[in-house]
Amino acid sequence: MPFIEHLSDTELERLALEQVVPALQEYGFYYVDGLLGELAGGAVLDQVKDMHASGVLQDGRLAGSVPAVHRRSIRGDKIAWVNGSERGCEAINFLLNLIDKLISYCSGRLGNKAIRERSKAMVACYPGNGAGYVKHVDNPNCDGRCITCIYYLNKNWNAKEHGGILRIFPEGKSYVADIKPLFDRLLFFWSDRRNPHEVQPSYTTRYAITVWYFDSEERAEAKRRFRDLTGTNKPWTNHSLFQ
Ligand code: OGA
Ligand code: OGA
Ligand code: MN
Repeated sequence: MPFIEHLSDTELERLALEQVVPALQEYGFYYVDGLLGELAGGAVLDQVKDMHASGVLQDGRLAGSVPAVHRRSIRGDKIAWVNGSERGCEAINFLLNLIDKLISYCSGRLGNKAIRERSKAMVACYPGNGAGYVKHVDNPNCDGRCITCIYYLNKNWNAKEHGGILRIFPEGKSYVADIKPLFDRLLFFWSDRRNPHEVQPSYTTRYAITVWYFDSEERAEAKRRFRDLTGTNKPWTNHSLFQ
């Protein structure tokens, strides 16, 4: 099925320049609702549900070795990495292309950041057993990740009943930002220490897709460091943003 973008390129460019860039500069995070619309968003949700049902989602990675009994109190999501070209990932691919487009309109306007590539997409499910993800920073040590983008997929989410709020604790600020994981919402935030965040315990199945965009220079430096350290290749699987 071909997916029709319900936002034109002009609208996407305006969204990037008039909303995403200024909000990132001013607050360090921003979200957009109704990114794909009901039809394409629903197709993404169906693909993620299929992945979940087929058992490809596995425990998210933790640093070091953590006994299974503790895992759920740290990070209780089930994940899979996809690049979008897999069979049955057409709608996810459509989503990734759209986010790439949006970010490419932003790049060049984000200070001295040069964004040319990103990670694969992490499809994540919190299974609803009360697991969340404790407060953390995605990129505390300059691994190259610059912007975290999370696309949420949850219809009829009631945070009072289901929990699952993403709470951001902006560095040096006296407020927190509580973001509900609502269907067809795309969230952006700086991946570094400016945005510690947590996923509060989730009491029903909670789906999201995350991609991380790299700052080219920091990423290249991180790869060099990683190679020196391990003699192997890379800490992150990446994907060229501009084919
Ligand atoms: C993260 C992360 C890697 C993984 O969530 O920031 O490093 O394999 N994820 O789950
Ligand atoms: C992560 C994470 C937040 C969310 O995977 O690193 O913080 O809202 N996820 O799913
Ligand atoms: Mn995170």
